[in-house]
Amino acid sequence: MNLDEIRKSAIPEISNVRDLDELEKIRVKYLGRNGHLTAILKSLKDLSLKEKKKIGPAANALRQQIEQTLQQKRNELVHSAEFQPIDITAPGKKREIGHLHPISKVEEETEEIFASMGFAIAEGPEIETEFYNFDALNIPAEHPARDMWDTLWLTPQTQSSKPKAQNLLLRAHTSPVQIHYMETHQPPIRIIAPGKAFRYEASDASHEIQFYQLEGLMVDKNISFANFKSVTSAFLKRIFNKNLSIRFRLDYFPFVEPGVEVGVSCPRCSGRGCSLCGQSGWLEIAGAGMVHPKVFEAVGYNPKDVQGFAFGFGIDRIAMIKYNIPDIRLFNSGDLRFIKQF
Ligand code: FA5
Repeated sequence: MNLDEIRKSAIPEISNVRDLDELEKIRVKYLGRNGHLTAILKSLKDLSLKEKKKIGPAANALRQQIEQTLQQKRNELVHSAEFQPIDITAPGKKREIGHLHPISKVEEETEEIFASMGFAIAEGPEIETEFYNFDALNIPAEHPARDMWDTLWLTPQTQSSKPKAQNLLLRAHTSPVQIHYMETHQPPIRIIAPGKAFRYEASDASHEIQFYQLEGLMVDKNISFANFKSVTSAFLKRIFNKNLSIRFRLDYFPFVEPGVEVGVSCPRCSGRGCSLCGQSGWLEIAGAGMVHPKVFEAVGYNPKDVQGFAFGFGIDRIAMIKYNIPDIRLFNSGDLRFIKQF
């Protein structure tokens, strides 16, 4: 091949190439050790001076032109989208799939169990007024029972001249949802209200400053404590899926009469006593009782016409018992080694 023939075939061949292997073959064909252009360059030494002067520069110019064209094509191929090599044998990229937090799991399961017993789900604000957190629940200002709830106040406690005390706080329990709901609905009522509660207290293995409660309220003409025992027992049996002993002991909450504390036998030590249950063999998981007449009056019901029960479970405590979690502080620790176990 002479120089002209080489130019006429090499340049279009390069521009038609579709991958780097083909391009390399063309480079070898023309510029390789035995390539067409290399052969001409090698033969220069045998030519006469006159011919050398004529062919030499032309051959070198053509080599430069071919090299440049090859380089351009190489760049084009490397950057073109078409040339993104796909290695179908490479292992797939693992996508991290999240999962529900154990508290969310317990909350969802709880909602399902109560829904199956005809309870609706109600919600209320986490920032409350003093009226809903205390007054309407039969805990007036200056009443010592307010000390039962170590409250995180958001505004200074001032005596309000308005009929409903307006000082703001982070709700210390979910019981205010009872009031909101009864203010806007008439009996019969059957609700649960899961949500956050906040308390200004030192945290330890079973206490947090932010935790979850599950409020429950059932009101109608003839709701009795027997109904409460039956609903609670059914719930606890289903959520723990095992036969734990349940106990009710009299307790004081200003918004119920009579009031009880609900306890379950400690699942970790089966009641023998361990660090989880403070050696008592029992875990306190709820406060409850029959709704106080003063609460009905606060929402405009006639206590002679209706009666009902209310309860407040600690969802964190239920999750701890269910999954055998020794310390409530693990829930919000952000420790993936903990959270990935669920
Ligand atoms: C109350 O908060 C009442 N509102 C419950 C109630 C509702 C009584 C309706 C009567 C009628 P208590 O302070 O005991 O009660 O809290 C209820 C449950 O919340 C406790 O049994 C416990 O399981 C959980 N709890 C309370 N404080 C904390 C805390 N600091 N950390 C985690 N869980 C807590």
